[in-house]
Amino acid sequence: MVNNTPTTTTYTVETEFLNLDYSYQGLTPEQISDYAQTKLPANFTKLKQQLIQGEFKNKTENRNVSHVLNRSIHNVVKAGNGKNRFTEIVRSLRSGQWLGATGKPITDVVNIGVGGSDLGPMMGSFALKEFADDNSLHTLHTHFVSSMDGGQLYAVLPIIDPETTLFIIASKSFGTIDTLANVNTVKQWLQPHLTEEQWLSRHVIGVSANNQAMTDFGIPPSQQLSFADSVGGRFSMWSAIGLPIALTIGSNQFSKMLDGAKAMDEHFAEVDDPTQNIPVLLALLGVYNREQRNINNVAILPYDGRLRYLPSYMQQLDMESNGKQATHDNQPLTTPTGPIIWGGYGPNGQHAFFQHLHQGWDTFTADFLAVLHRHAPGFSPAVQAALREQQRLAVSNCLAHRKLMWEGHTSDDARNTYIGNHPTNLLYVDELTPHSFGAIIAAYEHKVFTQGVIWGLNSFDQPGVEKGKTCATDILKVIDGQADTTFDASTDSIIRRM
Ligand code: F6P
Repeated sequence: MVNNTPTTTTYTVETEFLNLDYSYQGLTPEQISDYAQTKLPANFTKLKQQLIQGEFKNKTENRNVSHVLNRSIHNVVKAGNGKNRFTEIVRSLRSGQWLGATGKPITDVVNIGVGGSDLGPMMGSFALKEFADDNSLHTLHTHFVSSMDGGQLYAVLPIIDPETTLFIIASKSFGTIDTLANVNTVKQWLQPHLTEEQWLSRHVIGVSANNQAMTDFGIPPSQQLSFADSVGGRFSMWSAIGLPIALTIGSNQFSKMLDGAKAMDEHFAEVDDPTQNIPVLLALLGVYNREQRNINNVAILPYDGRLRYLPSYMQQLDMESNGKQATHDNQPLTTPTGPIIWGGYGPNGQHAFFQHLHQGWDTFTADFLAVLHRHAPGFSPAVQAALREQQRLAVSNCLAHRKLMWEGHTSDDARNTYIGNHPTNLLYVDELTPHSFGAIIAAYEHKVFTQGVIWGLNSFDQPGVEKGKTCATDILKVIDGQADTTFDASTDSIIRRM
């Protein structure tokens, strides 16, 4: 049962922006090539081209899929949405020139959004903070509020000042109840300090694909950033939804993130050999593990704290896209599709869930992510040296755990025996930069796309989340005393207690 065979060959794909080592997958490039022949459809190259040109069809929602067209700062908003509005807003807020209604510069920005309108912006703002260009002499604090229960507002409202805070209402549809509920609470909180007119005129930016809803809400046109309906929510961090990232690092650095994604688009589109194409390889290895090894989950394990929000981001990207049981043309699927995505910051996971991974009963695969070098500008030489040593410490731990997970370890003492045989990938970059970060995220997007193509499903809709919304509306009506419907014994008893 224990594999315990150290690898003798390294299988790596190297590009100037991202590297993949799949030596611990137990598959040779020849085997993967053969597998690709059976899995990738004959028109795969054409489908890739369609995606890259923004012409791939989201058939169930009857529109194109166009997030790839956002990989340029000129395209983050829809054509006609005020030339340079995005960069002008970024410049004005970062320089402290954007004044609130009472004449004070904005110091805090709160992004109110959920799902794709929260996870990507939050992940990118956190990961890339140290790359902020210094055109900004003014410090802007960015906060994220997503949860419908108001849990994050409890933490944010006490530390911000209504006169110096700007709210980004980020919602592709501009109709998501979670976001509107948070906005409603914010309006109540603001009332003693600013009139609604003052608030709307200087303290709100809307980011949405629904212009009419932004206008109806009262957001002035110059504060509306609109993006195309054909950009899926979970693919929208490259669009104006990425505003918090741009506010954190500046438009130039944001452009570099877009460039990194574009470089990955080109790699994906142009490399025909599936064993040399990082997203295609990730997709094939994932399908193989799902179908041939019957493994239903992938742990995302970043070994650099800057990537700590990647697992949550990946959950939406992958699970909302490929957690499906029917093809895009409505045929039932007979093989399992997208796996459960989970994970956490690797070094801390070692002190929490890794015991189960090493010696528990469950099968899993994992993507380890490592950043090989990190500079620590702004610190004294002694602190820089200590921080660089910490980076080496993290990488050594990453290498150690993936090695053990694959090879296992046999000991006379059963308690010290590691099972091994867990196939994993190592994605690594020499340095984390806006460019390499953009490339990592785009690689995962194209992996998800490729798997969707292999399974014949539509990765760009999410019909399964809708029923929950209508069901919640029905229950809320009863809780609010506006209806007296009964549901089931358990639900009814909690409602009575409320
Ligand atoms: O309910 C799922 C979902 O539609 C996601 O796909 C989306 O990212 C999220 O809700 C938020 O939607 P919106 O940006 O329209 O508020």
